[in-house]
Amino acid sequence: MLRATETLLVIVNCTFMFLFIPDVSSEQSTSSASEQVQSILGNSGLNCLINNAAIGFSTNISTVTPEAMMTMFQVYTVAPLFVTKAFLPLLQTAAAKSGDPGMGFHRAAVINMSSVLGSITLNCRDTAKFRSYVYCTSKAALNMLTRCLAADLEPSKILCMSLHPGWVRTDMEGPHVSTP
Ligand SMILES: NC(=O)c1ccc[n+]([C@@H]2O[C@H](COP(=O)([O-])OP(=O)(O)OC[C@H]3O[C@@H](n4cnc5c(N)ncnc54)[C@H](OP(=O)(O)O)[C@@H]3O)[C@@H](O)[C@H]2O)c1
Repeated sequence: MLRATETLLVIVNCTFMFLFIPDVSSEQSTSSASEQVQSILGNSGLNCLINNAAIGFSTNISTVTPEAMMTMFQVYTVAPLFVTKAFLPLLQTAAAKSGDPGMGFHRAAVINMSSVLGSITLNCRDTAKFRSYVYCTSKAALNMLTRCLAADLEPSKILCMSLHPGWVRTDMEGPHVSTP
Protein backbone atom coordinates (compact mmCIF):
# COMPACT_ATOMS: atom_id res chain seq x y z
CA MET A 1 0.00 0.00 0.00
CA LEU A 2 1.25 3.50 -0.82
CA ARG A 3 1.92 6.03 1.92
CA ALA A 4 -0.40 9.03 2.00
CA THR A 5 2.22 11.35 0.68
CA GLU A 6 2.81 13.87 -2.06
CA THR A 7 -0.55 14.56 -3.59
CA LEU A 8 -1.12 14.70 -7.28
CA LEU A 9 -4.41 16.15 -8.30
CA VAL A 10 -5.48 15.22 -11.77
CA ILE A 11 -8.49 16.91 -13.31
CA VAL A 12 -9.86 15.25 -16.40
CA ASN A 13 -13.23 16.36 -17.70
CA CYS A 14 -14.11 17.57 -14.22
CA THR A 15 -13.25 14.22 -12.64
CA PHE A 16 -10.80 14.30 -9.75
CA MET A 17 -8.28 11.59 -9.07
CA PHE A 18 -5.65 11.53 -6.33
CA LEU A 19 -2.37 9.67 -6.65
CA PHE A 20 0.56 9.60 -4.27
CA ILE A 21 4.33 9.46 -4.73
CA PRO A 22 5.83 7.25 -2.00
CA ASP A 23 9.04 9.31 -1.75
CA VAL A 24 9.40 12.62 -3.56
CA SER A 25 13.14 12.59 -2.93
CA SER A 26 13.58 9.40 -4.93
CA GLU A 27 13.98 9.66 -8.70
CA GLN A 28 12.77 6.09 -9.08
CA SER A 29 9.64 6.75 -7.04
CA THR A 30 8.90 9.93 -8.99
CA SER A 31 9.43 8.46 -12.43
CA SER A 32 7.40 5.35 -11.65
CA ALA A 33 4.52 7.59 -10.46
CA SER A 34 4.77 9.57 -13.67
CA GLU A 35 4.61 6.37 -15.75
CA GLN A 36 1.62 5.21 -13.71
CA VAL A 37 -0.23 8.48 -14.36
CA GLN A 38 0.69 8.33 -18.06
CA SER A 39 -0.73 4.81 -18.30
CA ILE A 40 -3.99 5.90 -16.66
CA LEU A 41 -4.45 9.13 -18.60
CA GLY A 42 -3.19 8.03 -21.99
CA ASN A 43 -3.11 11.01 -24.33
CA SER A 44 -5.23 13.30 -22.16
CA GLY A 45 -2.32 14.91 -20.31
CA LEU A 46 -2.27 16.14 -16.74
CA ASN A 47 -4.11 19.32 -15.80
CA CYS A 48 -2.79 19.95 -12.33
CA LEU A 49 0.18 18.89 -10.22
CA ILE A 50 0.34 19.84 -6.53
CA ASN A 51 3.68 19.62 -4.74
CA ASN A 52 2.51 19.22 -1.16
CA ALA A 53 4.87 16.91 0.80
CA ALA A 54 5.78 18.07 4.29
CA ILE A 55 8.20 17.14 7.02
CA GLY A 56 7.90 19.23 10.10
CA PHE A 57 10.74 20.16 12.29
CA SER A 58 11.65 23.46 13.74
CA THR A 59 15.22 24.59 14.27
CA ASN A 60 16.64 27.68 15.88
CA ILE A 61 20.23 28.95 15.82
CA SER A 62 21.18 26.54 18.62
CA THR A 63 19.64 23.41 17.17
CA VAL A 64 20.08 23.80 13.41
CA THR A 65 22.43 21.31 11.74
CA PRO A 66 23.71 20.87 8.17
CA GLU A 67 21.80 17.56 7.98
CA ALA A 68 18.51 19.24 8.98
CA MET A 69 19.05 21.96 6.35
CA MET A 70 19.76 19.43 3.60
CA THR A 71 16.81 17.16 4.51
CA MET A 72 14.36 20.06 4.46
CA PHE A 73 15.75 21.48 1.22
CA GLN A 74 15.47 18.07 -0.37
CA VAL A 75 11.75 17.72 0.38
CA TYR A 76 10.59 21.35 0.13
CA THR A 77 12.77 22.76 -2.66
CA VAL A 78 14.62 20.11 -4.70
CA ALA A 79 11.77 17.57 -4.93
CA PRO A 80 9.16 20.03 -6.32
CA LEU A 81 11.55 20.86 -9.18
CA PHE A 82 12.27 17.24 -10.09
CA VAL A 83 8.69 16.05 -9.60
CA THR A 84 7.59 18.87 -11.94
CA LYS A 85 10.29 17.86 -14.43
CA ALA A 86 9.08 14.24 -14.38
CA PHE A 87 5.48 15.30 -15.06
CA LEU A 88 6.29 18.06 -17.54
CA PRO A 89 5.49 16.05 -20.70
CA LEU A 90 2.02 15.25 -19.31
CA LEU A 91 1.41 18.89 -18.34
CA GLN A 92 2.58 20.05 -21.77
CA THR A 93 0.20 17.62 -23.43
CA ALA A 94 -2.77 18.98 -21.44
CA ALA A 95 -1.76 22.59 -22.10
CA ALA A 96 -1.38 22.00 -25.84
CA LYS A 97 -4.75 20.23 -26.10
CA SER A 98 -6.71 23.05 -24.50
CA GLY A 99 -8.57 25.32 -26.88
CA ASP A 100 -8.75 28.03 -24.22
CA PRO A 101 -6.31 30.94 -24.70
CA GLY A 102 -5.93 31.59 -20.94
CA MET A 103 -3.81 29.88 -18.29
CA GLY A 104 -5.14 28.04 -15.25
CA PHE A 105 -6.22 24.76 -13.70
CA HIS A 106 -8.57 24.05 -16.60
CA ARG A 107 -5.49 23.93 -18.84
CA ALA A 108 -2.30 22.98 -16.96
CA ALA A 109 -0.93 24.16 -13.63
CA VAL A 110 1.79 23.43 -11.09
CA ILE A 111 0.94 24.40 -7.51
CA ASN A 112 3.77 24.49 -5.00
CA MET A 113 2.49 24.44 -1.44
CA SER A 114 4.55 27.12 0.21
CA SER A 115 4.08 29.14 3.38
CA VAL A 116 3.87 32.71 4.53
CA LEU A 117 6.92 31.75 6.61
CA GLY A 118 8.97 31.79 3.38
CA SER A 119 8.25 35.50 2.93
CA ILE A 120 11.36 37.64 3.41
CA THR A 121 9.24 40.79 3.69
CA LEU A 122 7.11 39.36 6.49
CA ASN A 123 10.06 37.90 8.40
CA CYS A 124 10.87 41.25 9.99
CA ARG A 125 10.35 42.78 13.41
CA ASP A 126 6.90 41.98 14.91
CA THR A 127 5.92 39.58 12.15
CA ALA A 128 9.08 37.45 12.55
CA LYS A 129 7.53 35.11 15.08
CA PHE A 130 8.70 31.74 13.81
CA ARG A 131 12.43 31.47 13.26
CA SER A 132 13.00 28.00 11.88
CA TYR A 133 16.12 28.19 9.73
CA VAL A 134 15.27 25.03 7.82
CA TYR A 135 11.60 25.73 7.16
CA CYS A 136 11.76 29.45 6.36
CA THR A 137 14.77 29.21 4.05
CA SER A 138 13.52 26.16 2.14
CA LYS A 139 10.11 27.82 1.57
CA ALA A 140 11.76 31.09 0.44
CA ALA A 141 13.82 29.02 -2.02
CA LEU A 142 10.64 27.24 -3.14
CA ASN A 143 9.08 30.63 -3.94
CA MET A 144 12.02 31.52 -6.18
CA LEU A 145 11.88 28.07 -7.76
CA THR A 146 8.21 28.74 -8.56
CA ARG A 147 9.11 32.06 -10.21
CA CYS A 148 11.77 30.34 -12.33
CA LEU A 149 9.29 27.65 -13.39
CA ALA A 150 6.61 30.26 -14.10
CA ALA A 151 8.94 32.15 -16.44
CA ASP A 152 10.18 28.96 -18.11
CA LEU A 153 6.78 27.35 -18.62
CA GLU A 154 4.80 30.44 -19.58
CA PRO A 155 5.43 29.91 -23.32
CA SER A 156 3.88 26.42 -22.91
CA LYS A 157 0.88 28.08 -21.16
CA ILE A 158 1.48 26.16 -17.93
CA LEU A 159 0.56 28.20 -14.85
CA CYS A 160 3.02 27.91 -11.91
CA MET A 161 2.25 29.39 -8.53
CA SER A 162 3.02 29.12 -4.81
CA LEU A 163 0.19 28.99 -2.27
CA HIS A 164 0.02 29.49 1.49
CA PRO A 165 -2.79 27.18 2.66
CA GLY A 166 -3.44 29.03 5.90
CA TRP A 167 -2.91 27.50 9.34
CA VAL A 168 -4.12 23.95 9.65
CA ARG A 169 -3.45 21.66 12.60
CA THR A 170 -1.92 18.67 10.80
CA ASP A 171 0.75 16.07 11.57
CA MET A 172 3.42 18.53 10.45
CA GLU A 173 2.22 21.27 12.77
CA GLY A 174 1.70 18.96 15.73
CA PRO A 175 -0.94 19.28 18.44
CA HIS A 176 0.69 22.17 20.30
CA VAL A 177 0.69 24.77 17.55
CA SER A 178 -1.86 27.50 18.07
CA THR A 179 -3.58 29.21 15.17
CA PRO A 180 -1.93 32.64 14.64
N1 LIG B 1 -0.41 22.84 8.12
C1 LIG B 1 -0.19 24.16 8.01
O1 LIG B 1 -0.66 24.96 8.84
C2 LIG B 1 0.63 24.70 6.88
C3 LIG B 1 0.89 26.06 6.84
C4 LIG B 1 1.62 26.58 5.78
C5 LIG B 1 2.09 25.73 4.79
N2 LIG B 1 1.86 24.39 4.86
C6 LIG B 1 2.40 23.55 3.79
O2 LIG B 1 1.37 22.72 3.28
C7 LIG B 1 1.94 21.47 2.83
C8 LIG B 1 1.21 20.31 3.48
O3 LIG B 1 1.42 20.38 4.90
P1 LIG B 1 0.52 19.55 5.93
O4 LIG B 1 0.42 20.39 7.15
O5 LIG B 1 -0.73 19.05 5.25
O6 LIG B 1 1.48 18.32 6.25
P2 LIG B 1 1.16 16.88 6.87
O7 LIG B 1 -0.27 16.75 7.31
O8 LIG B 1 2.25 16.61 7.85
O9 LIG B 1 1.32 15.92 5.60
C9 LIG B 1 2.55 15.85 4.98
C10 LIG B 1 2.56 14.69 4.00
O10 LIG B 1 3.83 14.71 3.30
C11 LIG B 1 4.28 13.38 3.25
N3 LIG B 1 5.73 13.28 3.06
C12 LIG B 1 6.72 13.55 3.95
N4 LIG B 1 7.93 13.29 3.40
C13 LIG B 1 7.68 12.83 2.13
C14 LIG B 1 8.50 12.37 1.06
N5 LIG B 1 9.85 12.35 1.14
N6 LIG B 1 7.91 11.97 -0.08
C15 LIG B 1 6.56 11.98 -0.21
N7 LIG B 1 5.73 12.42 0.76
C16 LIG B 1 6.29 12.83 1.92
C17 LIG B 1 3.79 12.73 4.55
O11 LIG B 1 3.70 11.35 4.33
P3 LIG B 1 3.80 10.30 5.56
O12 LIG B 1 2.64 10.61 6.44
O13 LIG B 1 3.72 9.00 4.88
O14 LIG B 1 5.12 10.59 6.21
C18 LIG B 1 2.42 13.36 4.73
O15 LIG B 1 1.41 12.61 4.10
C19 LIG B 1 3.44 21.53 3.20
O16 LIG B 1 4.19 21.91 2.07
C20 LIG B 1 3.49 22.61 4.27
O17 LIG B 1 4.76 23.25 4.34
C21 LIG B 1 1.14 23.85 5.88
